[in-house]
Amino acid sequence: MRLLGNESGVPHERLSITDAPAVEALIAAGRPDVVFNCAAYNEVDRAESASELAHAVNAAAPHNVALACNRHGAALVHFSTNFVFDGRKEEPYVEVDEPSPLSVYGRSKLEGERQVLQSGATALIIRTAAVFGGGVNFPMRILGRARFGERLRIVADQKVNPTYAKDLAAAAVELWESGVTGIVHAAADGCVSWDEFARAVLADFGVSAEVESVATTAFASAARRPANGCLATTRYRLLRPWRQALKEWSEETRRH
Ligand SMILES: NC(=O)c1ccc[n+]([C@@H]2O[C@H](COP(=O)([O-])OP(=O)(O)OC[C@H]3O[C@@H](n4cnc5c(N)ncnc54)[C@H](OP(=O)(O)O)[C@@H]3O)[C@@H](O)[C@H]2O)c1
Repeated sequence: MRLLGNESGVPHERLSITDAPAVEALIAAGRPDVVFNCAAYNEVDRAESASELAHAVNAAAPHNVALACNRHGAALVHFSTNFVFDGRKEEPYVEVDEPSPLSVYGRSKLEGERQVLQSGATALIIRTAAVFGGGVNFPMRILGRARFGERLRIVADQKVNPTYAKDLAAAAVELWESGVTGIVHAAADGCVSWDEFARAVLADFGVSAEVESVATTAFASAARRPANGCLATTRYRLLRPWRQALKEWSEETRRH
């Protein structure tokens, strides 16, 4: 399988996804069967005052990637987010639910989905949520703050499926190999508030610290976020229960 993805050898420093001719040249030269586009401008709060950049990276660039894929016979696997929804639904969101993003980030990602779908490329769009497992992520930030003895005030009125990056990557490959196209939700089984997620992280890493549960209104965040950020699926299956995946990741991380 010839594969092209951000992590497999095309770092940001070498190529900006917003550079359409460079993206086209890369795909033309690499002749991949599939491109996994994991690039995103995902600074949710900063995006509120950087709307142009968010749209360039999250909407215009995926469109160009999709057009290049289409021209050079590659499929595209593109990632999107639970933040395309407004969180007002009582139940977890499935693929046919109407998006209605609350933030610039969410709107830019939704526009990216639409551009990719309209490009004519063979494209799979995977919406996911609260990814952990590598890089800077919520668990790592919580652990860092706990170790520095910082107060942990974590929101209790926003829910997400904490999704292990390794499980998500396996799902993405499986879905692509099965020839699935269009929008699919892939997120862990189980949806919890961020404070509950934080307590589980601390417990699994054996770090003793108190988590203070607070309302979203306790923070003056620039961007609004969905209260119900829970994903479900009618086109695939939920991934491994988040609690099980978190345990495995914490054990692996603590070993290294
Ligand atoms: N993390 C989550 O909780 C979450 C939840 C739902 C959906 N998603 C989606 O999942 C995908 C991956 O997100 P992630 O959390 O894994 O993000 P991440 O770790 O921050 O990765 C995003 C990558 O995009 C790169 N990038 C940013 N601007 C770029 C540009 N102009 N050209 C090329 N590369 C650029 C970044 O490179 P630099 O670091 O060099 O800037 C970084 O490697 C995104 O589509 C995101 O919307 C993530």
